[in-house]
Amino acid sequence: MNTRRPLIAGNWKMNGLAADAATLAGDLAKRLRGSHNPSFDMVVCPPYTNISTAVEAAQGTALAIGGQNCHDAEKGAHTGDISAAMLADARCSYVITGHSERRTDHGETDGMVNAKTRAAWAAGLIAIVCVGETETQRDAGQTLDVIGAQVAGSMPDGATAANTVIAYEPVWAIGTGRTASPQEAQDVHGFIRQQLTDRFPEQAGGMRILYGGSMKPGNAAQLMALADIDGGLIGGAALIADDFWAIAQSSGQK
Ligand code: PGA
Repeated sequence: MNTRRPLIAGNWKMNGLAADAATLAGDLAKRLRGSHNPSFDMVVCPPYTNISTAVEAAQGTALAIGGQNCHDAEKGAHTGDISAAMLADARCSYVITGHSERRTDHGETDGMVNAKTRAAWAAGLIAIVCVGETETQRDAGQTLDVIGAQVAGSMPDGATAANTVIAYEPVWAIGTGRTASPQEAQDVHGFIRQQLTDRFPEQAGGMRILYGGSMKPGNAAQLMALADIDGGLIGGAALIADDFWAIAQSSGQK
């Protein structure tokens, strides 16, 4: 039986000043406050500087706040970095680890993502662990090999349905307007579910696997209706309250 509650996660990336965060998080908080028993969980991940603003706007509602990255160490001489404990202290409950932009821009490896994910758990955060193949890898027929290696390497032992969410984000679909077809997405999600089942047999059935990559109101319902897609990690459309909310509404159609 599918007991997975959809998670609608907004990745704001490096966008917005405090006033924008207050408006956007405030708008979503208001909608959540007005909707009785929403059938989904919602989290937004602002830039670090806007976390406290978003937390304040979300106060007293079901809107959760997350970080976009964390260091794997608890503290120390790491100029410019933020620890998972600091995110938790700022009242975040989630953190994204291993986003493809971090893997590309900052050379993050599966081993680093694994360590960050463990740090997230140690701080009591839920990790949203991202994996995804590039266009070249897909064209070369390597998608499942790449995803298999990323999931194996990035997911630490001890992952549970409560402490970890996986996000499949084909790199060629991020911010490009191109979305994986429902079949392409389900093929990978089903593969990830099987991998999780092999490794975490007790937990895999309850683990949420999100799709990310140009998810928008026009394609969200079709994607989230698929057997192994349990929500979305949304970038561009998460910056527009109406669009993000419309995506969340379509998650209930499973
Ligand atoms: P996008 O980004 O929705 O703008 O494609 C998704 C992501 O990178 O998480």
